[in-house]
Amino acid sequence: MNLYNTKTGFGLVSKLLHWLIALGIIGLIALGWWMVGLSYYDPWYNASLELHKDFGMVVLLLVFAKFCWQVANRPPGPGAGLKPWERKASHAMHWVLYVLMLAVPVTGYMITTAAGQGVSVFGLFEVPAILPQSETARELATDIHYYFSYGAIALILGHAGAALKHHFVDKDDTLIRMTWGKLTGR
Ligand code: HEM
Ligand code: HEM
Repeated sequence: MNLYNTKTGFGLVSKLLHWLIALGIIGLIALGWWMVGLSYYDPWYNASLELHKDFGMVVLLLVFAKFCWQVANRPPGPGAGLKPWERKASHAMHWVLYVLMLAVPVTGYMITTAAGQGVSVFGLFEVPAILPQSETARELATDIHYYFSYGAIALILGHAGAALKHHFVDKDDTLIRMTWGKLTGR
């Protein structure tokens, strides 16, 4: 199995980053939705937010790692056999997903640090607040965090649905090259 991307396939590093980030984002949307519904007296009230921030910062780190990796090791072009409109649509969808995967954790960090306090990550270290205190910035960040994370559900469903349609209906390599391709020689 290749660590690096080739002209036609994703390497192990890109695959791991894709699936870890995907799992993280899906888990954090579920956790975020659950935690904001808890009452102040619920034993998970504070702990759930702390966990959300811990794992959210891990996702942010993974997204930075992904972007650096993509600059250093260019991803493959679109799969062979895609129609021109499918190439354009998947390119556009991937760009929207890139914006979301960066904007959601960055705005989470902004909500938390708008009061001037850093974010502690698993109690191991603290990421300092870099922006000046601002209630306007906090409100804007809260709105973007809310709309982008719930809006992502529709996009993720569309993206995953397209991948599954390629696999089961078109029977092409789209899903295979992001998963077990190369292991099986495809
Ligand atoms: C990809 C990563 C993330 C996703 C998908 C995500 C998703 C969500 C969701 C769905 C909510 C519930 C929104 C609502 O119903 O009001 C939420 C709330 C929240 N998130 Fe995140 N989040 C992420 C990262 C972060 C990070 C990194 C931080 C901070 C370091 C953070 C801080 C918060 C805070 C403070 C709230 C509560 C906002 C409020 O009280 O209205 N999130 N998040
Ligand atoms: C939060 C969830 C997800 C996000 C943010 C996401 C994002 C992306 C992005 C940006 C790409 C472009 C290649 C790259 O940058 O690595 C990509 C490719 C891909 N994703 Fe996802 N993805 C998610 C979930 C899923 C799921 C659940 C599936 C399958 C059921 C899936 C299947 C694929 C496949 C097959 C490709 C390769 C497409 C190609 O060959 O060009 N993704 N994804």
